[in-house]
Amino acid sequence: NKDRIGLEDDMGETKKRASFSGKVGFVLAAASSAVGLGNIWRFPYLAAEYGGGTFLLIYLILAVTFGFSVMITEIAIGRKTGLSVVGAFKAIDKRFAFCGLLGTVIPVIITPYYSVIGGWVTKYIAVFVTGQGHAAAQDGYFSSYIAEPVQPILWFAVFIVLTAVVVALGVEKGIEKASVIMMPILLLLSLVIAIYSITRPGAGAGIIYYLKPDLHKMTGKTVLAALGQLFYSMSLAMGIMITYGSYMKKTDNLESSVRQIEFFDTLVAFLAGLMIIPAVYVFSGGDESAMGAGPGLMFITLPKVFDTMTGGHFIGAAFFILVFFAALTSSISLMETIVSILMDKFKWKRRGTTVLVTIYCIAVGIPSSLGFGIWSGVKPLGMDILTFFDFISNSVLMPIMAFVTCIFAGYIMKPAAICEEVEQEGVKFRFRKFYSVMIRFVAPIGIIGILVSSVAASLGVFSW
Ligand code: TRP
Repeated sequence: NKDRIGLEDDMGETKKRASFSGKVGFVLAAASSAVGLGNIWRFPYLAAEYGGGTFLLIYLILAVTFGFSVMITEIAIGRKTGLSVVGAFKAIDKRFAFCGLLGTVIPVIITPYYSVIGGWVTKYIAVFVTGQGHAAAQDGYFSSYIAEPVQPILWFAVFIVLTAVVVALGVEKGIEKASVIMMPILLLLSLVIAIYSITRPGAGAGIIYYLKPDLHKMTGKTVLAALGQLFYSMSLAMGIMITYGSYMKKTDNLESSVRQIEFFDTLVAFLAGLMIIPAVYVFSGGDESAMGAGPGLMFITLPKVFDTMTGGHFIGAAFFILVFFAALTSSISLMETIVSILMDKFKWKRRGTTVLVTIYCIAVGIPSSLGFGIWSGVKPLGMDILTFFDFISNSVLMPIMAFVTCIFAGYIMKPAAICEEVEQEGVKFRFRKFYSVMIRFVAPIGIIGILVSSVAASLGVFSW
């Protein structure tokens, strides 16, 4: 049954396109790429840092406007051309061939540091499985762990090698099947932990902080952070959704698929914030500086939550295992993108290419890890090395890529062509007018405005 062949069966191997087994298959595959560390690790610490409810509100508004439009566009381009990012733009207009390069550079930047965080998650599985959950709940545990020169790099290596083995053997399908079971369990467990967190004494102020917008706190930086987070979390603005779209059947409803992927992705992020942010208040006694913990926030806060819970150490282990799988499906999809582009371009073999990409990732991931310890003096743009890579991809390159995608769809292909792709087989595009205005005017102008204003503000602060 040809229709039942999954996404990876022919990725990079042949030019023939198989398709997902129906809409549910498509939504689940795209959602399992989208749901990952972006939702669970990154969203809560940004929300904490950028004013809680203010960030949440901006994020939600951007999701249903910019996010919706860009995701529709990417999937439609993919389904229309049947190509991945490298070929799709070029096939429609040669002048936009550089988008293929831009869409390749972004995963090349993300994959190494993504796997460093994957290594932190793997370490925390070990911590909870070996019964050291109580130690991990102590102040300073996490920061002294990531400051170590060797151990975090070893766990990072474990994570990236696991990713590479799956990519090298081409067995992503098995992992994806597992993640389809894991994702609902992760959602359920997050709900349980979130309910526990928000019912702790002292959580009230944290709940208000997380849910109540305070528009005085709205700055250009907040909006850019939310925009970058949106693209990152939904795997947009790097062409990956073009690839997914190229495998989508013409008979599947594109618009409602997009809405479901967005809903699911946002729900996971929202729950992650609810688990973590009120708990920060509970354990720091409302100390505002605890909100600015940055990339470590989840690893600092959740062990404290688990430590006070009955059966918390078991729940902690289960939680980190589930997050591990969510991270692994994303890192596999990220690495697969790089590997398949190289294979197509240079006609290389899968295994050799994977080894090469892995060596590259380790080489670039090591500085990101050391930036929290012995290289903490290296501060490009005033950030630690990992945050710097994260900033370049999410706050600079992704908005540029999204902007170009809007221009491409709005003025080269024209919204009518995208809408026609959405309206296959007599399906109506409910937000057709809204989409056309978004993609031509609101989204591109908004993205450029946000980008220019905040990059200008942060320029000239390079220091060692
Ligand atoms: N969305 C993923 C997450 O939230 C990260 C990501 C960005 C990604 N782009 C991707 C994953 C492309 C797979 C493919 O963790």
